[in-house]
Amino acid sequence: MDETNRAWAALEAAPRPALPALFTAEPDRVGALTVEQGGILFDFSKTHLDAGLVATFTALAQAQDLAGARDALFAGRIVNPTEQRAAEHSAERGQGAPESVARAAALHARMRALIDAIEADAFGPIRHILHIGIGGSALGPDFLVDALGRGGGRYEAAIVSNVDAAALQEAVADFDPHATLLVIASKTFTTTETMLNARSALEWLAEAGVADPYGRIVAVTAAPDKAIEFGVDETRILPFAESVGGRYSLWSAIGFPAALALGWEAFEQLLEGAAAMDRHFRLAPIGKNAPILAAFVDRYYANVRGAETRAVFAYDERLRLLPAYLQQLEMESDGKSVTLEGAPVGRATAPITWGGVGTDAQHAVFQLLHQGTHLVPTEFVAAIEPGHSYDEEHHRQLLINCFAQGAALMAGRTNDDPHRAYPGDRPSTTILLDRVDAGTLGALIAFYEHRTFANAVLLGINAFDQFGVELGKQMAKAIDTGGLDFDPSTAALIERAGLGG
Ligand code: F6P
Repeated sequence: MDETNRAWAALEAAPRPALPALFTAEPDRVGALTVEQGGILFDFSKTHLDAGLVATFTALAQAQDLAGARDALFAGRIVNPTEQRAAEHSAERGQGAPESVARAAALHARMRALIDAIEADAFGPIRHILHIGIGGSALGPDFLVDALGRGGGRYEAAIVSNVDAAALQEAVADFDPHATLLVIASKTFTTTETMLNARSALEWLAEAGVADPYGRIVAVTAAPDKAIEFGVDETRILPFAESVGGRYSLWSAIGFPAALALGWEAFEQLLEGAAAMDRHFRLAPIGKNAPILAAFVDRYYANVRGAETRAVFAYDERLRLLPAYLQQLEMESDGKSVTLEGAPVGRATAPITWGGVGTDAQHAVFQLLHQGTHLVPTEFVAAIEPGHSYDEEHHRQLLINCFAQGAALMAGRTNDDPHRAYPGDRPSTTILLDRVDAGTLGALIAFYEHRTFANAVLLGINAFDQFGVELGKQMAKAIDTGGLDFDPSTAALIERAGLGG
């Protein structure tokens, strides 16, 4: 048996004391399993990790050469072998191969110059930003603007992704076309939904009498030639590197609407917060390394305890888009079935990430967490400082509820009536931010990126390709062009909706 299999066997065979018993056995459990970094406290003590499990997972990490993989990531070496690419999102925040860091800095300078020009009214009096993109070209900017842009500001940004034009219609309902900048964001600049939405947005500008709709476009892409082909002037193209993956791209020019709406200073703070988390991931010892410990937690529940999902609840309205952001990051990255070498991976990979906001979710789905038959490792994300100026009782109640849920899941409660009994021993992680600002958000997002990567390394899979999305795209094209015989069910649906050629 090799070292990797030996470690997995040891994890399977490890004792499984209940959470309350772990607290009794380890008086300094909170200190041992808490990490503070970048204005964020990560409390893993309500998970089943203990010193023994951390030691065994450390052996697994060594067997999988996590340190070597991490070095390769930051050195800009190829960590995405199926596409022969590096994954250089950390270079965007100054952490990576020197030439990639320099290139990212130059592209940021170009973005900043364009922002300065927009602020100086080079495009006329712009007040609205209509950002069109999908997946990684939308979720990051949307999350940032929604979390940090609530105080109002000079620009109002709307992020449109769905090909259902009801989304576009709603987004522009209150926009003045004559004061709107159109941002078309697509790494490949070929994505059907984005190109169709971009054309409709251009039509909307033209119909409103905007003299030169194409002159209102800022294109954000890793394929500048395609943007030029589309009709965008070169001076309004913000390129980013091919080695920055879509779901890791909010640090690059993809973050343009956020940098414009929130201000350049905030964007820089975002990058700095992420850079501090990069350094933490690279340098902190495993036992105090937040992304690595979180990956141990993920792997323990998915692989040893059979958990098929993991839930994330943002106890902060500003972070309400976090679960959606994480769904792409985690499931598109680690939702794989084969190893880097192409062999069956042989164990569960990414759990299904789901979640919502507290306290709303307590009154909807928490019944299942407390008494259902599924084991759901749960993550609570909250901030000490409120995001509003209403009575502080609101925020007190928010945090009280957040902490109460974690305590209740763990402690459970016995009752002679089985309907009213709570089994307890249900794990949770609490991530507590000092405040929601650009710096802590940068650190938080980078934490999730590195956790996703660490999970992939422990499993021996590639976190950076996404071939799983291709077949559906090809099938859609085949329906569009009528080039394929479909199964009877699909054929009947096509016929019924009148989509047949
Ligand atoms: O279909 C999945 C995907 O390729 C994502 O990985 C990506 O973030 C999204 O589509 C959008 O791609 P693009 O930025 O090239 O338009």
